[in-house]
Amino acid sequence: MAFPKTRMRRLRATAGLRGLVRETELSAGRLMLPLFVVDASSEHPAREPIASMPGVERLSISAAVAEAREAAALGVAAVMLFGVPSEKDEHGSGAWDEEGVVQVATRAIKQALPDLLVVTDVCLCEYTTHGHCGVLRKTDGRPPTVDNDATVELLARTAVSHARAGADLVAPSDMMDGRVGAIREELDGEGFSETPILAYSAKFASAFYGPFREAAGSTPAFGDRRGYQMDPANGQEAVREALLDVQEGADMVMVKPALAYGDLISAVKAATRLPVAAYNVSGEYAMVKAAAAAGYLDERATVLEILTSLHRAGADIVISYHAKDAARWLTEQS
Ligand code: PBG
Repeated sequence: MAFPKTRMRRLRATAGLRGLVRETELSAGRLMLPLFVVDASSEHPAREPIASMPGVERLSISAAVAEAREAAALGVAAVMLFGVPSEKDEHGSGAWDEEGVVQVATRAIKQALPDLLVVTDVCLCEYTTHGHCGVLRKTDGRPPTVDNDATVELLARTAVSHARAGADLVAPSDMMDGRVGAIREELDGEGFSETPILAYSAKFASAFYGPFREAAGSTPAFGDRRGYQMDPANGQEAVREALLDVQEGADMVMVKPALAYGDLISAVKAATRLPVAAYNVSGEYAMVKAAAAAGYLDERATVLEILTSLHRAGADIVISYHAKDAARWLTEQS
């Protein structure tokens, strides 16, 4: 029955009615906070601001533990660790070093906060001198390309070293083919059959990663990542990527970036029925912070609207640099 018998505004009249029929309710337990951790031997101060990401800092190991403690106290489900090593090499060997920055930070956080989930980013780009997400293969006369199969072996080794350090979940973000299967096999073979894989399944070659690359020092020295990350124009391919990762044994899948990819969050959720994560990336964070600082947007309302919209689109988990603020605001709200 249509208007005037049906009046959609009836259920919007009071806060009580709106609350009663609200379809999506974000909570801190759905949020993951990314942290940039620098290693102990580096020259960095304990907390070093990142210019393009106001409010986010590169952290020493002990500052990362403190940050993780604050996040845990606010009810944030997990921290996701990115390493900023002081030394890099052509193969990114710092990535699987048992004394590497992510391994040390994982042990420190798990020891201090056993109940907080620690998720580790499995990728080589922060550890390679050339900044690409894998090892290079020289090709005659043409620029080198990332060698898929050689990289996959190193990623599997990296994932095992993270699991050994106590990571609750490993999250490969490199976009090599076959890496989820290889990581699963290596984890199982090394006694980590209980460690789940959160696969960055649909990761696009995006301009929104700019601030992250400044934060993590992972800008490619030549070329770009379009030979392995996805073309932002492709949605069907994103679903295919996610389904392949499911076949290879992914426990959860991710769509990244988040804001411009809401259609794919829904499509991947519908196709896989797995827990889906959406990564509200550095550039999305930077836009909101810049607009809020200029007085153009209300930060709190904007952030909660964005994160709720990702949850509504189908993301069970939202990874965001706003996680601590959002957790605080969500608690105050109720
Ligand atoms: C590393 C990685 C990147 C991000 C997460 N893992 C950067 C990239 O692929 O260039 C981006 C995260 C962000 O922008 O917040 N492979």
